Amino acid sequence: MAAGAMSRGLFITVEGIDGAGKSSHLQAVADWLRAQGHEVVATREPGGTALAERLRELLLHEPMDVLTEALLMFGARRDHTLRVIRPALERGACVLCDRYTDASFAYQGGGHGLDAAALNALESWVQAELQPDLTLWFDLPPALAAARRAAARSPDRFEGQDEPFFRRVAAAYAARAAAAPQRFARIDADAALDDVRAQVLSVLHQRLTAA
Ligand code: TYD
Repeated sequence: MAAGAMSRGLFITVEGIDGAGKSSHLQAVADWLRAQGHEVVATREPGGTALAERLRELLLHEPMDVLTEALLMFGARRDHTLRVIRPALERGACVLCDRYTDASFAYQGGGHGLDAAALNALESWVQAELQPDLTLWFDLPPALAAARRAAARSPDRFEGQDEPFFRRVAAAYAARAAAAPQRFARIDADAALDDVRAQVLSVLHQRLTAA
């Protein structure tokens, strides 16, 4: 899977419920990839382009129905995918994205009950054949994630949801991971920071260095 000179770059996404701690490890992932000689484009969703960052503001703060929410998420994703992700992969760069479509299945699907058929249609419409090569899934029991969120900052519209919501989100991530085990790598986020980082680096080493 290692990117040769002419091949498409690696597309790596990072997922998990709010409070699972994924953001603390993005830098370590980027550093590891650069040390392997890759150009790295670090980005996030919703966001990653001027238009998508404007949609992010609306998504995080304006109340709206779940289908509207999914349409705006995928609208932002389309812009981001066309303008940033695909061009970077095509020139051989690695794209490291903080959340992608799995988050829509987890939050809009699991959390808010949007029909999987709608999400599947949006996914294939917006991405065509594009899928991440590796998804680092930070898995943490929802009660622990809630305690971490409470110790952090003021919540946005998603972070302010109750624990049953996050239990559904976590279950939807687990289902996505079970359906694509070759893409997902589970990180046990119920551990000290150093231990979580060691797990992340070990996954990168195992999955991304040529056998
Ligand atoms: P997040 O990366 O957690 O932002 P931050 O760490 O800055 O708070 O993402 C923002 C929120 O957006 C998060 O609560 C999950 C939500 N989200 C969805 O509901 N659906 C999606 O498709 C994406 C990409 C994010």
